[in-house]
Amino acid sequence: MKTIAVIFGGQSTEHDVSIVTALASVIKPLELTKKFHVEPVYIAKDGSWYWDKKLKDIKFYQSGEIEDYVKKAAKTHILFDNGLTLVKSSQFAGRKQYKKIDLVFPAMHGTHGEDGELMGILEMANVPYVGCNVPSSVIAMDKILAKQVTESAKIPSTPWTWFYSDELAHGSDKILKRINSLKYPLFVKPAHLGSSIGITRVTAKDQLMNALEVASHYDDKVIVEQGVENLVEATLPIMGNENPVPALLEEPLLKSEDFFDFETKYMQGGKKGTGKNAGAKASGSQGYSRIPADLPKDLYKAAEELGLNVYKSTGCRGIARVDMLVDTKAKKVMFNEINPLPGGLYAHNWNKAGISNVELVSKLIDYAEEAWQKKQKLATAFSTNYLKQF
Ligand SMILES: Nc1ncnc2c1ncn2[C@@H]1O[C@H](COP(=O)(O)OP(=O)(O)O)[C@@H](O)[C@H]1O
Ligand SMILES: [Mg+2]
Repeated sequence: MKTIAVIFGGQSTEHDVSIVTALASVIKPLELTKKFHVEPVYIAKDGSWYWDKKLKDIKFYQSGEIEDYVKKAAKTHILFDNGLTLVKSSQFAGRKQYKKIDLVFPAMHGTHGEDGELMGILEMANVPYVGCNVPSSVIAMDKILAKQVTESAKIPSTPWTWFYSDELAHGSDKILKRINSLKYPLFVKPAHLGSSIGITRVTAKDQLMNALEVASHYDDKVIVEQGVENLVEATLPIMGNENPVPALLEEPLLKSEDFFDFETKYMQGGKKGTGKNAGAKASGSQGYSRIPADLPKDLYKAAEELGLNVYKSTGCRGIARVDMLVDTKAKKVMFNEINPLPGGLYAHNWNKAGISNVELVSKLIDYAEEAWQKKQKLATAFSTNYLKQF
């Protein structure tokens, strides 16, 4: 039996969402396969790592017991031994507990996890892992980089510009000049955050400076986009490596004037649960999104194609979700953003596409192994006489 470490939590605004993804959408179906030993690895809000069977129980977090636990429990180390081994002190003084990991399933959302940082550690350990690799995670989690890469692949998005927050501190003239070429309303966004944190919809010039300052407060890079009119949003979960397959195009149902905020996305549970915890509540999630999206056939097809092109051009592998903005009058599909690890794996959508939660995690593990095998074939050694010259 293979041992799989599921890593979740972390230093991110989406810490709690990650717990639900890990426990409900990853660990539960992995255990149902009866093919794997699952080792939960929880990263606390301060960045400390813990590895313990107890960490598989949602009640542990709901009751607040977790706060007490992290104060007392032994922290976990990782050993890089041409692979990855978890290490922690046991209750017997001087003795340590070891567990060699065969594959890692990251279930992290947001900063310090979904953004490529964790993937860097896993690459260094040369352990197979599920989902996007370092470069694709980095690109996906930076709205500016994602637009730059997709633009070079001729994938359309709404007109946009960007600046470093530092630039704004040194004067706004040049930045405002660039923004002037965009039509209102504008969307001002921090480059790396999610859940609409720090995003402002700007309808008039006198609101602009404030919006730029708010976004700069949250991030070192800020993107300013022209608002898409006659908007229908569409999101496409995708999985696979070289030959990715789409799930169903999903249409979040909301008014464009009160665009997603954290509250709408996560806090309304089954009622408005199109957000990252939606996977856990397949039926509830349908209340606030439509699967498949209600778009004319040609636009549906165009969105599906655009989503797959984004996935390929940014080098995604394993799983991701591509979000698009559709101007239904102009009949134009535009790329908006990529989520390398969609909340709850977007299992509710995969389920509708005929793939059960167990099949979903099993396929993701196969993709992880395939990607790892391929990497092993690349040469990492090259002999030279370099050392002898000294
Ligand atoms: N250019 C745009 N035109 C119209 N609506 C937009 C635009 N950009 C963002 N929005 C609205 O704001 C929401 C949040 O923006 P998004 O870029 O998806 O950020 P987040 O990472 O917070 O999800 C989108 O789901 C959409 O409703
Ligand atoms: Mg979004």
